[in-house]
Amino acid sequence: MRERGVQIESWGPLAEGRNGLFTDPTLGEIGAAHGKSVAQVVLRWLVQREVVVIPKSVRPERMAENIDVFDFQLTDDEMARIAAMDTGASVFFDHRDPAMVSRLGTSRIHD
Ligand SMILES: NC(=O)c1ccc[n+]([C@@H]2O[C@H](COP(=O)([O-])OP(=O)(O)OC[C@H]3O[C@@H](n4cnc5c(N)ncnc54)[C@H](OP(=O)(O)O)[C@@H]3O)[C@@H](O)[C@H]2O)c1
Repeated sequence: MRERGVQIESWGPLAEGRNGLFTDPTLGEIGAAHGKSVAQVVLRWLVQREVVVIPKSVRPERMAENIDVFDFQLTDDEMARIAAMDTGASVFFDHRDPAMVSRLGTSRIHD
């Protein structure tokens, strides 16, 4: 995508809040080292890799938290630790699972 000048954007930068993302011990440990929350570590990880993020929250305090990711930097070691968490599959969606796709309903198809 970079070669062709295409900007990547995260579909659900906080994994739609699913699958225990906010209680992940590795992300929590990395956040504690910087005085940051798991959400901030996740968003920083994406921003630092030049992935556009548009996190969703209905809570003003979380909106403020989510934009407060530009005053710290994840180290190469921390970036590598997070990269090692990659399972090669989405933690919240599988486009190849007909049952999951059908649950989207028509309104979500047009998102
Ligand atoms: N995923 C899709 O299907 C899809 C499709 C088209 C467009 N989008 C857009 O993509 C953006 C991403 O939204 P998304 O809902 O898909 O997923 P997301 O941003 O990955 O996750 C949102 C979830 O994380 C929670 N959250 C947000 N900030 C948090 C924080 N600091 N600490 C703890 N929890 C936090 C939110 O809860 P609270 O709201 O309660 O804080 C919500 O449950 C949105 O702008 C959305 O409209 C998504």
